[in-house]
Amino acid sequence: MKPSSRARLTRFTVADFPGDTLFDAVGRVVSEAACLPRKELFEAWAVAKRVHRRLAGRPIVDLAAGHGLLAHLLLLLDPTAPGARCVDRRRPQSADALEAALVARWPRLAGKVRWEVRDVAGVEVDPGDLVVSVHACGVLTDRVLDVALAARAAVAVLPCCQSLARCDTGGLEVWMDGRLAVDAVRALRLRAAGYHVHLQRIPDEITPQNRLIVATPAGPQAAAVAPCTPGEEP
Ligand SMILES: C[S@@+](CC[C@H](N)C(=O)[O-])C[C@H]1O[C@@H](n2cnc3c(N)ncnc32)[C@H](O)[C@@H]1O
Repeated sequence: MKPSSRARLTRFTVADFPGDTLFDAVGRVVSEAACLPRKELFEAWAVAKRVHRRLAGRPIVDLAAGHGLLAHLLLLLDPTAPGARCVDRRRPQSADALEAALVARWPRLAGKVRWEVRDVAGVEVDPGDLVVSVHACGVLTDRVLDVALAARAAVAVLPCCQSLARCDTGGLEVWMDGRLAVDAVRALRLRAAGYHVHLQRIPDEITPQNRLIVATPAGPQAAAVAPCTPGEEP
């Protein structure tokens, strides 16, 4: 079965995750919970792993969180993270089933995730937070960046559905694919704000909308502008 499959994981897919790794353990739990498409497990894991390598120990704010799997995976990967907020204007039923299944298997997650059913616009975070968002469609990714930038918090986004009409292409679509231009402008926006910007991709076979931007505000002792890290791989 392809990692990009939108078919729901169920108890029949438990056998697809036979290993001793944390990923396989999560795959089994999520399969038993029968509430998520396969793609979303692979996507959230690929992002969580890469973000965790760079940023740990911070409170997590998962914006446009959907089912909230990303926040839970970051907490699993990082026992030093104090907790997470999941923000979405709608909390899907899958979120309850998912949280219950994960907490049953990893009781240390109990009470660690707080939900806020509201719009992303106007959310306030602290400078020490880690703001994350997977597939905040179109301009919603820009609103996520607004939230992080307002507090100078670290941020990681995997954008999707870039709208050439509503997102800033910087005029670069004359030279490059317009959706790429939108993400390039986002990376440069963060860089211009004094962030270290690390550009990565999650594997194509999970999703073609796979550009991951991880950005951390430069400290007072760091150079004002750090070079983007080109195409860093897993
Ligand atoms: C494509 S889903 C992504 C969900 C999740 N991050 C994931 O990776 O599966 C986009 C999410 O954004 C939420 N959303 C859309 N507009 C929003 C807004 N203005 N404020 C808060 N949430 C919003 C939707 O309810 C939906 O859950």
